[in-house]
Formats: sequence, C-alpha cells, structure tokens
Amino acid sequence: MKTTLSVIKADIGSIGGHIAPSQRLIDTVREHVAQQGRGLLLDHFVSHTGDDIAIVMTHRRGAGHADIHQLAWDAFVAGTAVAREQGLYGAGQDLLKNAFSGNVRGMGPAVAEMDLDERPNEPFLFFAADKTDPGAFNLPLYLAFADPMNTPGLILSPKMGQGFRFTIMDVNHTQGDRVIELEAPQDLHAIAALLRDPERYVVESIHARATGEQAVAVATSRLHNIAGKYTGKDDPVMLVRTQMNFPATGEVLAPYAHGHYVAGGMRGSHNMPLMPVRQNTGTSYFDGPPLVSCAAFAMHEGKLTEALDCFAHPFWDEVRSRCASKAMEMRRQGFFGAAMLPMGELEYTGIVETLGALEGRFRVRSAPAQERAAA
Ligand code: 13P
Ligand code: 13P
Ligand code: MG
Ligand code: MG
Repeated sequence: MKTTLSVIKADIGSIGGHIAPSQRLIDTVREHVAQQGRGLLLDHFVSHTGDDIAIVMTHRRGAGHADIHQLAWDAFVAGTAVAREQGLYGAGQDLLKNAFSGNVRGMGPAVAEMDLDERPNEPFLFFAADKTDPGAFNLPLYLAFADPMNTPGLILSPKMGQGFRFTIMDVNHTQGDRVIELEAPQDLHAIAALLRDPERYVVESIHARATGEQAVAVATSRLHNIAGKYTGKDDPVMLVRTQMNFPATGEVLAPYAHGHYVAGGMRGSHNMPLMPVRQNTGTSYFDGPPLVSCAAFAMHEGKLTEALDCFAHPFWDEVRSRCASKAMEMRRQGFFGAAMLPMGELEYTGIVETLGALEGRFRVRSAPAQERAAA
C-alpha cells in the first residue's frame, strides 16, 4: 500500500511585519491538525520557517486528496482568525480565495506531495524556504542529482549512475501546467539551459531512471500569477527522499554551503544569498536574508520519528556567516543592477507607474544635418 507524504504551507500572519508567526498561531494550527486529522492522518509535523507555517502530513489517501487539502486549509483558516485577533501583520496573507474548492493548489498555499512505496527504511528531508521562490531550489537540485562534482554517488553507485529524470515547469504559463521531462546526464546541457532562469523554469519533481521511483517534489506555485498582483513571495517547500537509489542526505545538503543568490529578500524584489538556518527561525536583515530550513525524518508505515534539524550542526555557522557577508556586500549597491530584480520580476507596481509617467517626457533628439546626409 502506498504512503503519501504531503506538505502544505502558508503565511497566515506574523509578528513585527514579515518576521515569524506567533506561538499562539502555531499552536492553533498544530491543535487543529492533531484533532481534525484523527482517523485521516498517519502522522503530522508542524513548523515555521520565517513567517510561513508548514504542515507535513503522512496518510494513505494519495496526492492531491480533497480531505487532506481541506484539513490544511481549515487549519490555516482557524489560524487566520487568531492572527486577526492578535493583530498580526498579513493575517491570512496566503489564503487568496474565500471558499475551499477541493484542492489548495491555485488558492495560495504551497503544496509538495508524493506517493511512495515505503522502503524498509525511509529517510527523507523536508525543506522550507522563506523570502524567495521555488526556483531557489534549482541550483541545489541540479548539483545534488546531476553533478558528480557534488554527488560522488553518481559515479560510485550503479543505480544512481543511470541518472535522474527532471520534470521542469514553465511557471509563467498561467493557463495550465506547462512541463518538460529531461534526463540527466543525457540532457544535461538542456537542463542547465532551463534551470539558469529560476524565475521562469522550476524543477517540479525528480525521479530515479533506474527504478522510476520519485525522489523529489517541489511546490511550484506563483502567487502573483494567482492573485494578479503582489501578495508576498512564493516561499516554497520541498520533499526529498535520500539514500540507496537516491543521493545521500549529505549530498543533498552540500549545495546549500554555496549560499547562492536567489530572488527574494526585501519586498520580494532583490537578489540575496540563501542562508541555511535552524528550524523555526524568523527573518531579520533586509526582510531576509532569504532562508532555508531542513528537517530530516525516518518514516515507518507512515509514522515519523522526531525531526532532526539538518542546518543546526556547527558546520553551518561558517556558511551563515559567509551568507551574511554576501548579503551585506550586495546591499552596498542598493537598487543598482544585480542587487534588484529585473522589471518583470518586481513585486510592486509603483515603479511601473513611475516609468509610464516618464514615457511622455522622453524625446528623440533630431540628428544634425551632416549625420542625416551620411545616413
Ligand atoms: P513574505 O512573502 O514572506 O510574506 O514576505 C513579504 C515581503 O515582501 C517581505 O519584504
Ligand atoms: P507589505 O507590502 O505587506 O507592507 O510588505 C512588504 C514589507 O513589509 C517590506 O518590508
Ligand atoms: Mg508575510
Ligand atoms: Mg514568507
């Protein structure tokens, strides 16, 4: 019988701007899931990363099941009532629709799910990132699943040596899911050509070519495509199964030592380094830096062990300190060039209006007579 891993996350309000949810808010969501999930869930785990609350659930209903999505939606609605009562900022921020209609996809919350045949031991990782978007995972996934410089398993393990199938989504296509399947290593350069543009092409899932098993599920929602305007960044969640036919946990974690620049931070409109942080960390400097947390679990018949905090290890202190330096270095150039996202990705409309108003004041200077003659 298949086990389903579902993670559904939403920003439903936070203290002091976009920093972190209140303890009462988290407790409300947790209690709702514990009570209403009886008989439906095998197990669950609730945590926050920045101002986003994530609910990890295990069950037998299959991915995309209305009962599971309804449970998460109702938990966020219950939390939103508390957020309003406490005067939290952005209460109900990610609940973009008023009435639940069977599936939270397209309603605001981020969703990553997979159905799996449990291995005798089933290690998996749950990642959550805040102040960034799903493309933030493109580079670490490419390195972990397609680059032997990062992942020696690709040359040492015969099954991993057969490579992985990447399903990549064009997240700018709003009429439906526009996806392509490419295989590493055969299609490596094509994969790289797409993943270099993380605002448009996003890894949605990865499967082992040797066995067909799914290793990765990433939430790929684009809030501004749903709401038609800025409503916060599309802070993503991701599930990654590790070991045996998949990369080892350490191979999946290693790329986060780069502190690569991602879209996010202040007003969802800047390039900032992605800082690996402990579970339940808030944001701070420049509404960031963009942060990623990772909880490791073992699972048996849908029952979860306690979560181990992957980025709590002392190794990551050095990485955090480098990320802080990279963040400050980038911030020295304010709004210029690479520090701020290109026009199409800016999350606020004010600048568009400013530029529109300037249009009428531009003039094309008439060329002197000798230049006209030469032309
Ligand atoms: P969130 O998407 O995490 O709510 O952040 C909003 C923002 O713009 C912070 O500057
Ligand atoms: P709002 O646009 O919701 O105020 O959020 C952005 C923000 O807080 C930037 O600091
Ligand atoms: Mg927020
Ligand atoms: Mg957030």
